[in-house]
Amino acid sequence: MEQNEIVDNAYRNGIEATRKLQAAEQKEMGQYMTPPSVARFMSQRCIPHAHKSSLCVLDPAAGSGVLAAAAIEGLMDCDTKPKNIKLILCELDGRMIPTLKKLANNLRNRAKLKGVSLTVSIKHGDFLLSQMALSSKAIADVIIANPPYFKINASDERAEKHSYAVYGQPNIYGLFMAACAKLLKRNGKWCFITPRSWTNGAYFAAMRKHLFNNLHIEAMHTFESRTEHFTDDEILQEAMITWATTKAKSNQNVIVSSSAGLADLHNSQLNNMPLNQVIDDDDDQMLILPTHVNGIDLKAWGSTLENYSLKVSTGPIVAFRADKFVRLRKSKQTVPFLWMQHIKHMAVQWPIKKKREHIVANAASAWMLVPNENMVVMRRFSPKEDERRVVAAPYIEGSLPGAVIGLENHTNYIYRPGGNVTEAEAVGLAAYLNSRVVNQYLRAVAGNTQINATDLRRLPLPSLDIIRYIGQSALGLSLDEIDAVVENALANENRERLAA
Ligand SMILES: C[S@@+](CC[C@H](N)C(=O)[O-])C[C@H]1O[C@@H](n2cnc3c(N)ncnc32)[C@H](O)[C@@H]1O
Repeated sequence: MEQNEIVDNAYRNGIEATRKLQAAEQKEMGQYMTPPSVARFMSQRCIPHAHKSSLCVLDPAAGSGVLAAAAIEGLMDCDTKPKNIKLILCELDGRMIPTLKKLANNLRNRAKLKGVSLTVSIKHGDFLLSQMALSSKAIADVIIANPPYFKINASDERAEKHSYAVYGQPNIYGLFMAACAKLLKRNGKWCFITPRSWTNGAYFAAMRKHLFNNLHIEAMHTFESRTEHFTDDEILQEAMITWATTKAKSNQNVIVSSSAGLADLHNSQLNNMPLNQVIDDDDDQMLILPTHVNGIDLKAWGSTLENYSLKVSTGPIVAFRADKFVRLRKSKQTVPFLWMQHIKHMAVQWPIKKKREHIVANAASAWMLVPNENMVVMRRFSPKEDERRVVAAPYIEGSLPGAVIGLENHTNYIYRPGGNVTEAEAVGLAAYLNSRVVNQYLRAVAGNTQINATDLRRLPLPSLDIIRYIGQSALGLSLDEIDAVVENALANENRERLAA
């Protein structure tokens, strides 16, 4: 069998096996196979720089072995190929073991033809509880993985055994990344495809610290499309690939790229940046992935909400705690209570008669109500199927009744403490936030469907003049028309900035 066929064949076997599973079972095991093209894209950068005659390759969550096969293919195809390769495959699901045995045979035969001696060790069991993962001994020159993704309890044995990487509720994929960071030999290559949440989630802080202490991140690639790279499996995660090597002493650069999917890899731009610009220097060490969207480099705008004396807060009302004030029907005492369902792109729609959408306004509830003034209101969570991450609307003073209004906890709002947001600023900011440019940017920097206040505080903004200009033009336009207004305005400002 040709090497190409071995990789494709492993994928086909994996897909066939997962087709037999119920969706819930597939999710429970985290069984989503890597398409061969993604596997090759990952393995291309996994060839250790220093030539070694004997190498050890590890896939800790092997499935049907697509990634391992792609890594072996890459090593056997390079000019100075190793003489001996040891391949270690770990897999928890016994149903995959016969498939892995067949793959091992195919790879051994192929290696013989190439003059390479390949030994394959298949380990059936939980990688995280294996002697190998717990020993922390550097054993592998290449580690390539698409680990399972799901949350586990902090009391789960796997989380307890890898508690050095746990802070709050762990996700199993973070434990795989952390455990493997310790198993890499000097100058080895470590490559993982994972969801993006590890880059900025608070729960991943300990795991990030461990990773950065052990590894130097060499490159990252983010996929903007949620489904495109896993075409056969309906996996609603935005994925990224991270390549790393053992930690170097000095600060080095990292190459960051991004594409919608695989089809546009050739058009994707590379950013080469000092690592300390990508990793936040506070204790949380979040990653800030820069992006150029449609030729517009948002990172180039130096301003954020704070520069314009604007603040973002989360809606103060947790409905069940405010139960005694929340009402189904309007009365003389009530004012509008906005839930995220009332917020549409560029419009607040109230009442909708589906929610308890009134709240009593009196001295006892006043602390949780906000003044009926110009502001931008937005949803904190975007619907999974929504292309756009942000749903924001300008709220214009007096458009709803009452001196104050209620904002539920699944909303965020932007306001100017001690001052007024003008109508043009509210409309302009909401249009900017809803725009394609900002949505693509937020997709690149934030890994999940939640828009948290920290992401908004960090969001680069153009000048206030541009925001007001957008605000004067955007009302009543469709989202596509808003995209055009925003992109033209930003491109003009970009040109002026470069010319200055
Ligand atoms: C996302 S799939 C990836 C499979 C394969 N590496 C690929 O890229 O196509 C993750 C695999 O890890 C296996 N797995 C889940 N939990 C595991 C564990 N604790 N230890 C080892 N393997 C595990 C699943 O059965 C599944 O086959």
